Formats: sequence, C-alpha cells, structure tokens
Amino acid sequence: MPLTEETRVAARDIIARYPQGRSRSALLPMLHLVQAEDGCVTSEGVEFCATELGITQAEVSAVATFYTMYKRRPVGDWLVSVCTNLSCALLGGEDVYARISADLGVGHDQTTPDGAITLEHAECLAACDYAPVMTVNYEFFDQVDADSASEIVDALRRGERPTPTRGAPLCTFAEASRQLAGFPDPRPGAVAGPGVGEPSVAGLLVADAEAVAQAGGTQVDPPTKGS
Ligand code: FES
Repeated sequence: MPLTEETRVAARDIIARYPQGRSRSALLPMLHLVQAEDGCVTSEGVEFCATELGITQAEVSAVATFYTMYKRRPVGDWLVSVCTNLSCALLGGEDVYARISADLGVGHDQTTPDGAITLEHAECLAACDYAPVMTVNYEFFDQVDADSASEIVDALRRGERPTPTRGAPLCTFAEASRQLAGFPDPRPGAVAGPGVGEPSVAGLLVADAEAVAQAGGTQVDPPTKGS
C-alpha cells in the first residue's frame, strides 16, 4: 500500500517530538508508523524514513533488521508470539508452540492463508514469572498450556478478541504498531487493564512476611484482584 500524505503528516508529528538536529532519533517510532501502514517494513517504508529523517537507506535498514519487532514480511491482524526460551520451554512452551503451529498449519514467521494470523517463536518476553507465556500483538496471556493457547487462537479465528491476562484489551497489529509509534490508543478502557500480578511480587511478599529488610524500607502491598 503506498504511504500517503497522512503518513507523512504523522511522520512529521513524530519528528517534531525530538530536538532540532536530532531527527534521526525518531527512527524507531517512524519504523512502527510505516509498519502500521504496510504490515511490515517495506523497501518503500525504508526509503520514506530515510527521506524524512535525512539519513541513508542503509542506516534505516541496519536498524530495521536488528530489532525483531520490525517485520520484513507482512504480518496478519494478529501476531501470536510464543515464548520458547528457557523458563517457558521448561514449563511447556514448546508444546504450546507445537499445538498452535499444528492448529494454524503454519510455522515460524508464517501467516495463515487468509492473512489473519502470524505465528512466531519468541525469545524471552520478559514475563518468566508467568511462564509459559504467549502474546497476541504484544499483549500477555500468562501461564498458558497447549489447550488454553489453542482456545485463544480459535477465538481469534472466529473473529473474537480474547481478553489478555494483563494490560490493554486486544487491538489489531496495525493499531498496535501505531501506538508503538507514539500515538494514543483512543479506546475507552485502553489503559485500564490489570497490571502487575502476584507472581511478580511473590519474592517481596515472602520477604515481607518474614520481616526481611527491603531496600529503602519499602513495604509492598499484595496486589488486589483487578489491580
Ligand atoms: S523465558 Fe519465557 S518469558 Fe522469559
């Protein structure tokens, strides 16, 4: 899809957030912006970023190919990332990945023929305390197993939006990419989802119960349901 004048206006809005003379610092959100338009970072997107930022296409490509969040092939509406790194693998992450891969008939970095769902093996998603985890468009589904993960993906295939364990309600990959470019999520309740859960503070709770001194003397209250 050609990048439009609207994309150019949004790009200049991003660039204006950075000090004059440092527009190249806007590259990361700019890459998310072009990805929101095209479903991946296309060669046209690379050229667009280079032109707007006054840098070379080689410099843009070097960044775009370094970070796994920038895709070189179009992603479906739903990017399903299954962590198969150590903590998750030990607790069944590989089984989760294998089930979803069999359900969808696709492998790593592949998209279903209807263009709806892209599957990927993910490195540590920084949620080892909830292992095994998967994300859909970077929203967390914690402590899944092959059956529960399969149900989540089935719901996506039915056109539903299952509720993540924590964080914002699901939005499409294009919408998520636009948010990552720094534009707000206008949906009601978009930032009202559950935050930290009990596994994240389990050690602190034990320390608190055992009256172990904590750094700065801070006491941690147990999370309440829905917080
Ligand atoms: S190993 Fe899976 S979230 Fe860290």
